[in-house]
Amino acid sequence: MWNAARRGLKALSRDAGVVPSPNIWYHPGVYEIENRAQDAGDEIWRVLAEEADWTGRDVADVGCGDGFHLPRFAAGAKSVVGVEPHEPLVRRARQRTQELTTVRTLSGSAERLPLPDASVDLVHARTAYFFGPGCDPGLREADRVLRPGGKLVIVDLDATAGPYGRWMRADLPHYDPAAVEKFFHRQGFRCRRVDTRWRFACRADLEAVLKIEFSPAVAAAAIKEVLRDNGSAADGYTMPVGYRVLVREKPTGIVLLDHSSSSSSSEVVSPRMP
Ligand SMILES: C[S@@+](CC[C@H](N)C(=O)[O-])C[C@H]1O[C@@H](n2cnc3c(N)ncnc32)[C@H](O)[C@@H]1O
Repeated sequence: MWNAARRGLKALSRDAGVVPSPNIWYHPGVYEIENRAQDAGDEIWRVLAEEADWTGRDVADVGCGDGFHLPRFAAGAKSVVGVEPHEPLVRRARQRTQELTTVRTLSGSAERLPLPDASVDLVHARTAYFFGPGCDPGLREADRVLRPGGKLVIVDLDATAGPYGRWMRADLPHYDPAAVEKFFHRQGFRCRRVDTRWRFACRADLEAVLKIEFSPAVAAAAIKEVLRDNGSAADGYTMPVGYRVLVREKPTGIVLLDHSSSSSSSEVVSPRMP
């Protein structure tokens, strides 16, 4: 996260919309450990299933990285497509899912999804730094590829939930969680906060992951705090991490814009109405 912010502008100039993720781009092995450690109690998956059940549906995972979440969706979905801009990760995702006949991974970005209109029921994006204030082009693309009634679900770290959120804010003092939430609220998302735990088998894994997520000083303080809170660490090392699950449904009706006044009000008309 810290590194992503630091190097962000450079890559943005190369490919508008693509936000570098040095954690997974440069340390995919450690990121694999991180993904396995995350959501040890399956809390995010439980909330996802409640909000947007994908059983028998077509799913797009945007910014899928090396495809860690694709097999899990594939277990119940009709089809799954991962979309990822970083070519080495596209190749890793394809390798991971080569045995899964209902899964494809395509090169592309949230702002230019390589998918037809109205072709999926769920667009999922996890720890998707590219979905933040100003991401309107990506939100429009998600709406384009969703069928009416389909859902866009963005799963992100909650910078207001400590201790992880506190470490994030220490590295990103200008990050304004309230402004981010306001942006998504205005865009019509509802937000569910989810408390999870990350679980590491050993101290080396814990340290490696925190070192790719934070600046050296913050990582050192974070490691110290987790070691202190885990005592004998008989069951490995765990720490609480909060997430925000943002959900927006594509209307099933036709949206009529009200141009009769300067207001931006609109109404949704059911297609079943005569
Ligand atoms: C922190 S990683 C998370 C990967 C994956 N979602 C996961 O949970 O394992 C963020 C991913 O978003 C990708 N990304 C960055 N900018 C993007 C954009 N504009 N559209 C789609 N993906 C993007 C990065 O290449 C990276 O793979």
